[in-house]
Amino acid sequence: MPVEIQVNGLTKHFGGLKAVSNLSFELNKGELLGLIGPNGAGKTTVFNLMTGLLKPNSGQVVFKGKNIADWAPHLISACGIARTFQNIKLMVGMTVRENIRPAFHQKINYSMMSSLIRTPAFLKTEREMDEEIDQILDMLQITEFTDQYVEGLPYGIQRRVEIARALCLEPVVLLLDEPTAGLNHKEAKDIVEVIKDLLIEKNISMIVIEHNMRVIMSICDRIIVLNQGQLIASGIPEEIQQNNEVIRVYLGEKRIAG
Ligand SMILES: Nc1ncnc2c1ncn2[C@@H]1O[C@H](COP(=O)(O)OP(=O)(O)O)[C@@H](O)[C@H]1O
Ligand SMILES: [Mg+2]
Repeated sequence: MPVEIQVNGLTKHFGGLKAVSNLSFELNKGELLGLIGPNGAGKTTVFNLMTGLLKPNSGQVVFKGKNIADWAPHLISACGIARTFQNIKLMVGMTVRENIRPAFHQKINYSMMSSLIRTPAFLKTEREMDEEIDQILDMLQITEFTDQYVEGLPYGIQRRVEIARALCLEPVVLLLDEPTAGLNHKEAKDIVEVIKDLLIEKNISMIVIEHNMRVIMSICDRIIVLNQGQLIASGIPEEIQQNNEVIRVYLGEKRIAG
């Protein structure tokens, strides 16, 4: 399977704490890769390193043949890696559409700065942008909320707005940090459907950090497990469920759902 992103020996220390230690893994094209591990294992730090929010002490994130680990976040997102946050980050006092528009502008601005990363978003008119936003909102089934202020919306809808914003960057890679966190059962189920649809319709390669083991085991092609910053297992869901080290790490936290 062709590799989309290759992570090599990624290491991040915070003072004396080794949040991520010599981590290597690959994300294959079109794959949904699960990233799991106990609280504090270093999962969000991995996303922060892959999106330029943090710089590694050592190691590489190779995307499109280049090590992007030292790039600024806006360049990485303009090149096709988009993310959502564990704690939803939307702009209050603005509508759903207003929250999404800047993602388009960002893409266009940086496309103009470099022919290397020129994309179809280049030279789009405002109206074309709004049409695309409408399409994305329709795909996420949140059209009815387009002109509503985000802060009044149910949590599950806010999550989808965040995913919609990420999709406006026309990503080839999408990193979802605990997309079902804080959602009720129905909302979580709906988000899982959205993720499955994205895989099929957009053929985006994805990494999903998720606490809900049932969700992870049911949607992921492959899973990697972090504990205290180190990779302790990698494999298909069945292998991970039966991995003794993984079971040991999760004992006391929660049982792995069957
Ligand atoms: N910016 C930071 N400064 C200092 N310590 C941090 C920072 N970000 C994360 N950490 C620490 O690094 C470890 C891994 O955190 P994190 O990646 O958020 O874990 P996870 O997402 O797996 O729960 C934790 O011990 C956390 O407290
Ligand atoms: Mg986290």
